[in-house]
Amino acid sequence: MKQINVGIIGCGSITRFRHAPEYRANPYVNDIFFYDNNTSRATALAQQFNGRVVDKVEELFNNPNIVAISDCSSNESHHINSTKALLHGKHVLCEKPMATSVEKARVILEAQKKSGKKLMIDHNQRLTKVHQRAKSIIENKELGKALTFKTTFGHQGPEKWSVDGTNATWFFKKERSHSGVAGDLGIHKIDLIHYLLDDEIDIVHSFTGALDKVDESGTPIEVCDNVVCAMKTKRGRLGTASFSWTYYGSEDNSTTIYFEKGMMKIYHHDQYPLIIEMKDGSVVKHELEPMQTNDNQTNSGVIDAFVDCIINDKVPLITGEDALASLIVIEKILNDK
Ligand SMILES: NC(=O)c1ccc[n+]([C@@H]2O[C@H](COP(=O)([O-])OP(=O)(O)OC[C@H]3O[C@@H](n4cnc5c(N)ncnc54)[C@H](O)[C@@H]3O)[C@@H](O)[C@H]2O)c1
Repeated sequence: MKQINVGIIGCGSITRFRHAPEYRANPYVNDIFFYDNNTSRATALAQQFNGRVVDKVEELFNNPNIVAISDCSSNESHHINSTKALLHGKHVLCEKPMATSVEKARVILEAQKKSGKKLMIDHNQRLTKVHQRAKSIIENKELGKALTFKTTFGHQGPEKWSVDGTNATWFFKKERSHSGVAGDLGIHKIDLIHYLLDDEIDIVHSFTGALDKVDESGTPIEVCDNVVCAMKTKRGRLGTASFSWTYYGSEDNSTTIYFEKGMMKIYHHDQYPLIIEMKDGSVVKHELEPMQTNDNQTNSGVIDAFVDCIINDKVPLITGEDALASLIVIEKILNDK
């Protein structure tokens, strides 16, 4: 069986909980090479996942036996690492948000075109069983056309999730995160709406604020911890969205879509994460696996999809162009003053 070796840049939480275990479990993956600015983090994950450590990122780029690279560095580095990896002939799975600006995302896209290698962005929400089922129900048109939507993604914030584990985390720094909760959580839902409705959000009116989070010196953070917005899509659908790092209870990952003939409730109910209610009063409750949360890490399917697109020479399930479209919406949210 054909196997590939992969490299991972950045050995924080997303690598520990998703990329490393999912590569290790994938039968087409042989060696995993770990790199982090902080070598002790790379060493710890290499030990945990039976991989190897490199001391310099160039050792990943210059190793002809490494076929693909996951870019799990913090946001401000994506356009540097992913671009270099592509131009060194590696396939790249880049974490979201693709970059800290649309302009920088376009640099990665240019590198992808020049290299001809695969570029996939980790908008993993598309791949949950519930969102996949929702997509197929929308496509079979039993609900008619989608008219309006409301979506939210919020939890208690990234400071406990990040490997740093404190409110000194890069997630709270303007020059490193850039987009705060908008690019951290909001971009997942923007991508999801684009995907489910086969549409693009075009016009945005938003409010953003740093309402509660403080940095390590007790100063309000430089990026938004909350976003509330109203949107219109290119195909005329209207929707609202809210993204929050201050939902100080359980995580909320819910979406509701209203159609001509009924409505779809996604992740409103633990046992029935997908519920269809029809105009005539009939209800269908789908029992599917619960949402992955920070406390419930299940296989995201993203690594398997990325490896599959390399091994079988397919178009990645989430392309750089898809991710760029979502990033454009995030810039509109941040720039609507
Ligand atoms: N797809 C998802 O659901 C999801 C979830 C969480 C985080 N993320 C994304 O994954 C990326 C990493 O987030 P995280 O939660 O792992 O953060 P984290 O703070 O836990 O870890 C980041 C790690 O990257 C390292 N790093 C930063 N810049 C680097 C560079 N230039 N070279 C090498 N190492 C570098 C840091 O030392 C740290 O160990 C971010 O872009 C984040 O938005 C995606």
